[in-house]
Amino acid sequence: MRLKRLGATQRYVGLCPFHSEKTPSFNVHGNRQFYKCFGCGAGGDVFKFVQEIEGLSFYEALKLLAERAGIPLPRRSEYTDAETRLRAAIFQMHELAAESFRASLRGPVGAEARAYLDKRGVTPEQVEAFGLGYAERIGQTLVRLFQNQGFTPEQLEQGGLVLKRQDGSGYFDRFRNRLTFPIQNESGKVIAFAGRALAPGDEPKYINSPETPIYRKSYVLYNLHRAKDAIRKEERSVLVEGYMDVIGVFGSGVREVVASCGTALTTQQVQALKRHAERIVVNFDPDAAGANAAERSIQILLGEGMHIRVLGLEGGLDPDEFCKERGAEAYRQALNKANGYFYWLSDRARGKFDMRTAEGRVADFQFLLPSIQRLTDKLERMAVANDVAGYLGVDSGLVLEHFRKAAGDRKERTLATPDEPVRYVERALLSLLLDDAEARAQLIPRLRCLPAVEQFAARRIFQTLIALHDSGAPFGFAELDARLEDSDRDRLARMLLGSETEGEDPALPDGEECLRLLEAQRGEGEIAALRGRIREAERAGNLEEALRLTRELDRMPSSRRRAVSRPRGVQ
Ligand code: UTP
Ligand code: MN
Repeated sequence: MRLKRLGATQRYVGLCPFHSEKTPSFNVHGNRQFYKCFGCGAGGDVFKFVQEIEGLSFYEALKLLAERAGIPLPRRSEYTDAETRLRAAIFQMHELAAESFRASLRGPVGAEARAYLDKRGVTPEQVEAFGLGYAERIGQTLVRLFQNQGFTPEQLEQGGLVLKRQDGSGYFDRFRNRLTFPIQNESGKVIAFAGRALAPGDEPKYINSPETPIYRKSYVLYNLHRAKDAIRKEERSVLVEGYMDVIGVFGSGVREVVASCGTALTTQQVQALKRHAERIVVNFDPDAAGANAAERSIQILLGEGMHIRVLGLEGGLDPDEFCKERGAEAYRQALNKANGYFYWLSDRARGKFDMRTAEGRVADFQFLLPSIQRLTDKLERMAVANDVAGYLGVDSGLVLEHFRKAAGDRKERTLATPDEPVRYVERALLSLLLDDAEARAQLIPRLRCLPAVEQFAARRIFQTLIALHDSGAPFGFAELDARLEDSDRDRLARMLLGSETEGEDPALPDGEECLRLLEAQRGEGEIAALRGRIREAERAGNLEEALRLTRELDRMPSSRRRAVSRPRGVQ
């Protein structure tokens, strides 16, 4: 992620890692140590950021950051809640299981599985690198291991690795007589397994771990932790369908390869990829199921603004077979020559239309248009549309016409701005009060008796700030932020990050000037309100009331204004 500093301020902006966007709305405030995205609303401090990006609990994020900074943490049990303890136990069970499966594959029970891997051309180095293992037929290995280690029934049941017998008489292992593939998170921790059947008739071919407190399928990509450095270096990822494809392709030296784990591709998975590179080559199996999955994946990838190419391998080979039969070099070349996704989509559509007629070609073009219109970059969209028109032999005037029509309904997602605008005085006062204890001591007593505060767009923020100040509790941005409702946290971030706040930070004299202004407006406001009421009374024919109000107005000499500017408490 790259952030750009705004002038000489402590503010930074960049593309948000939590949603897809073209123009940066992700803001970081250096002094106040928080981030906020005005596109999707994500926001928080460094702990929240690490929690979100890595899918960790608060304690886990704390631990990770402490380790990185070399700060020792106190013993875990003192600080953790039940949820974190459960997750820690499940992480530990997965570590033990991975080790146990690997030992079985190496031992006598693993002979058949080793022979299978050998037959499929998986080398011992690949077995080692991917942590492949074998789950025994009997189905008691993990149950015994976990019970010996003293895991509780709740931990066993939530861990997903063992199942309870129907009659309640004990547990058995989920994976039995299967080749095991550990599934790891981005930091390389084992969080789930896949198990492939060894015998041809053994259905289903793969079983996968269920969702558990440490495994959310839609967030995880197989092999991402090994691939991410290569993805950054090559500035692209390669998406394949199967675990075996990942191993074969990785083995041939294309290390930027990932797969989803037995589910359709999700937005969250694409976002995880996009953090490392925006370009991707989709290379699915050459059968109908593979083509359908590729088409669905393209839509998800387009939705996140990825630059997509599609590789269809010749000879009916899947990526793993292709690498083995044609060699690593041929596979690399095929990847590098892969075409933009729209060529692939258009070839796919050819079967549906009669391409010899102009109508058929236009129909094919129209079939492709929705996918082209999902491109977020306007220029790229036009270029692609022209390419496709050329490829299909469709008149380019038609392309332009379609785009003029479509131009109206495209807008980038942005958070609705709060309807009440926040004025400069509010922003300046807030910024000053947050930073300066002296200003708080001087100005808060005056603010407290100023009715104008109730008219502030940010009134709840000010009220909370004043209450926090009065409570004598530690005072700071984080403490204030923590006490606010979501909508006000949003407003607070906007007030501190908004473009209008660029430049010099306000100092105490500026704050005093703001207060003088507000106090003066209070007088003006009252006079204006009185005049309005007089006009109304006259219009309604209520002369008595009009007269009374006029006398009241007369009693408000210009000196009144000066009186108003003195705080009530001091009078
Ligand atoms: P494949 O059947 O293509 O598997 O399914 P594969 O990984 O290429 O393995 P080989 O080469 O046939 O041994 C592709 C992916 O679909 C999921 C798995 O993630 C698999 O890797 N899948 C497939 C399942 O989850 N369950 C199944 O029963 C089959
Ligand atoms: Mn396959």
